[in-house]
Amino acid sequence: MNQFRHPRLSVKLGLVVLAVVAGALGIVYAAVVPRLEARLVADRLDELAISAPAVASQFREADPFNYDARARQVQENLGARVTVIRSLGNDAYVPVADSNDIVAPGVLNDPVVRAAFESLEVERGQVDRDGDRAEVAVPFNPNMVVLLSASLRDTLASVRLVERTLILAGIAALLIAWFAGSLAALRLTHRIQRLEEAAGRIAAGDFEQEIVDPVEDEVGELARAFERMRLRLAHLDRARREFIANASHELRTPLFSLGGFLELMADEDVDPAVRKDFVEEMSSQVTRLTRLATDLLDLTRLDAGQLSVEQAEVDVAESARTVCEEFRARAEAGEHDLSADLDGPVLALADEQRVLQVARILVENATRHTPAGTSVVVSAGDRNGSVALSVTDDGPGVPESDQKHLFERFYRAEGGQASGSGLGLAIASELAGRMGGSIELESRPGETVFSLLLPAADDVFTSKRR
Ligand SMILES: Nc1ncnc2c1ncn2[C@@H]1O[C@H](COP(=O)(O)OP(=O)(O)OP(=O)(O)O)[C@@H](O)[C@H]1O
Ligand SMILES: [Mg+2]
Repeated sequence: MNQFRHPRLSVKLGLVVLAVVAGALGIVYAAVVPRLEARLVADRLDELAISAPAVASQFREADPFNYDARARQVQENLGARVTVIRSLGNDAYVPVADSNDIVAPGVLNDPVVRAAFESLEVERGQVDRDGDRAEVAVPFNPNMVVLLSASLRDTLASVRLVERTLILAGIAALLIAWFAGSLAALRLTHRIQRLEEAAGRIAAGDFEQEIVDPVEDEVGELARAFERMRLRLAHLDRARREFIANASHELRTPLFSLGGFLELMADEDVDPAVRKDFVEEMSSQVTRLTRLATDLLDLTRLDAGQLSVEQAEVDVAESARTVCEEFRARAEAGEHDLSADLDGPVLALADEQRVLQVARILVENATRHTPAGTSVVVSAGDRNGSVALSVTDDGPGVPESDQKHLFERFYRAEGGQASGSGLGLAIASELAGRMGGSIELESRPGETVFSLLLPAADDVFTSKRR
């Protein structure tokens, strides 16, 4: 079906070009030919009319017996046939003299002669008698008229030549226009067809082939937009595959370990103390799995835009205090010195539950990825017009080369103290983004600060009030 649809478009475009050129040629023809003819005939008539009064006075003064000789003389000067006609009254006329000896047939019914006898003025006109003729009739006394009549054959032949040339040139122009129009249209439809094929490939999930159209026009623009779309989709597709591969890998590890413990526990001879250890280990693996499932769900919701984030006034200092309390026991168990450095309320425009979630991720990391004996301080305050919730530790820090990747999904710095899934900071940074903020990291050996930056509440309220 495609093969038929595309040529149809090119045929349509070719026909449009053809119609436009034909129309333009028609207008040129209609404007040139009749005007040229009228102009040339009027020029010939003017020539005769200008000499008419002088001719009339020559005949007025001439001897009637010499009219023939006079007529021949005038013909020689003017290049027009000269006939002298007398009116007999009652619309009857008789030729008196003619420069050609034989009076032309039909001269007695000539409308220009008749008009001149009626008006007794110089009359002019184009008459189709003995071929086309330009005629001027001039009365030189009440019943005598001199008729000057010039052939228009050459003039009209020139006009016909122009007409023929125009028609031939027109046909040639039409053929060229149709050919060129169809060619251009075919090229265009070919480019559109290539885009259609590319769209088909993308729809089928093939993002490999580059879409190139270097021409600087709308179709070229469309192709470049397609290319941007292809790259974006390819990136998303790669990210999706990586995500699924990483997620399955992360899920498999604890499941594998759980399977191993179950097998060992099936053995009835297991010592109760060892069995207790197994159960504890299994319980920690289940916790890890639950945590992983929650994180994956959060990320999926974030990707799908289904995670709602409220915008309300949140006391970030209060959130910091809460999280500190939550982690106190765990920090002590890990021999970490966890403390809060907080003054009065610090108000941000954010979602309280999400602020707590981010703070937990940061505090957990600071107590988990640092050696025993590290102190961790949670603080809240203003920073450059924003609100910052910071978690500072005096651990070994994050190597420079890892810092820019830390917020990627499943990324873990090498040689870390503990093994996580590498999702915590990715979720934290997305949540911060959703709340209109960000996560900042400053790290060197001995001091690492992760800060959640949020829009200050009074800032937003004052700007709204304004
Ligand atoms: N305070 C810190 N000091 C040193 N390294 C850190 C610190 N916080 C994070 N990291 C490094 O950043 C990595 C990524 O942290 P992230 O929270 O994203 O994942 P994770 O803690 O490994 O796993 P989980 O998904 O369970 O949180 C960690 O693996 C760790 O190597
Ligand atoms: Mg973490």
